[in-house]
Amino acid sequence: MIFDILTLFPDMFRSPLAGSILEKAREAKLITVNLFNIRDYAEGKHRVTDDDPYGGGTGMIMKPEPIIRGIKAIQSGHPEARVILMTPQGTPLRQEVVRRLAQLSHIILVCGRYEGVDERVRAVVDEEISIGDYVLTGGEPAALVMIDAIARLIPGVLGNEGASEDDSFSRGLLEYPQYTRPRSFEGREVPEILLSGDHQSIERWRKREALRRTWERRPDLLTRAGLSDEDQKILDELRGSSGAE
Ligand code: 6GU
Repeated sequence: MIFDILTLFPDMFRSPLAGSILEKAREAKLITVNLFNIRDYAEGKHRVTDDDPYGGGTGMIMKPEPIIRGIKAIQSGHPEARVILMTPQGTPLRQEVVRRLAQLSHIILVCGRYEGVDERVRAVVDEEISIGDYVLTGGEPAALVMIDAIARLIPGVLGNEGASEDDSFSRGLLEYPQYTRPRSFEGREVPEILLSGDHQSIERWRKREALRRTWERRPDLLTRAGLSDEDQKILDELRGSSGAE
């Protein structure tokens, strides 16, 4: 998977991509990340990349020509590359979106800055993505979030095959409580069942705790989760024993 990043701040990517798992993935050629500075596609002595908004108002707008020239340059010879604009106005990033993007072979990530990009950039973009309902100073941290979320679904990136399917959200639920040694820590004990060696009972307990946690913290996820009859029954029990309703 190739990630080409168009940004005014390529340095923002260097240290996050140099740490741990993503660095190993790059060394193993499972992912490639190329950084392109939008300023290199700007013209004139000063290589200006932004300007005042037509119609007035505060803040600067990123000019269309440098971004579009950059996209076209990266795209030439790679017609299959998908162009994604990082913007708070985009489709919210969810695990199902990450799963879809992980099937692609080449993504061009365009990082907007300042108060926005000229609307005409949208004509050369395939899709727009937001990482959540809050505002960042630029698309760079959002692009890093995307790369991380996508990379961990690429076979071989996580040491442990299958780890990415087993986690929270892959089933649409929050993760069940996890423990490691010591068995007793400051008076708090690991639940007996996890020490029992009874794998069926442990699976049932984990399913129940994942449902409980999701219901308590993120009930909005339950409507999307695709629950089985068995799951629905467990939820009804949890609701019944909570004292609510
Ligand atoms: Cl992709 N960009 C910016 N600037 N802010 C955001 C975002 C993106 N996603 C959430 N907030």
